[in-house]
Amino acid sequence: MLDVKERPQTEVEDQAFIDGVIAEYAGKPGGILSILERVQERNRHKYLSKEVLRWVARKTGEPLSRIYSVATFYSFFNLEPQGDHTVCICRGTACHTRGSRDLLNNAKLILGIRQDPDGGADKLSLTTPDKKFTVRTVACFGQCALAPVVEVDREIFGRMNERELRKVIDRVDQKGTK
Ligand code: FES
Repeated sequence: MLDVKERPQTEVEDQAFIDGVIAEYAGKPGGILSILERVQERNRHKYLSKEVLRWVARKTGEPLSRIYSVATFYSFFNLEPQGDHTVCICRGTACHTRGSRDLLNNAKLILGIRQDPDGGADKLSLTTPDKKFTVRTVACFGQCALAPVVEVDREIFGRMNERELRKVIDRVDQKGTK
């Protein structure tokens, strides 16, 4: 019997959902990836908590280190709660030369994000305290001809500038929680 304390800190129906997903994919090729994808997608803040990773390891019989390495290898997995909306700014070379650093700083300014934990490192994920927005960076969207590229809630915007970025963020903000 699993210790109650090790259960994921989610609603009862979420635990049932996780167990159902594990039953569906465990042991299949790419099963761990599919399990983690489905579980993260279901989570309100689109992340995988430590409790969930432990739970998946216990229930699938896989070493926790393997579950953790899958969750950290793929950039689309999040280990921290994400905002309701995501502003993702490309920091690849083409976008950098066309001003993506300024766009990044501008997005942080608009959203009132002051943290800069890595001293300005190009790979980051910062969430506003109210969990409304997450600002992230990516190495390349593969749309370099449209540089600088920004993705907001999975919609790609090419040749972005600071004025347009503010307009898109304002529009998404007014829509409220997804
Ligand atoms: S460098 Fe930004 S899309 Fe490729």
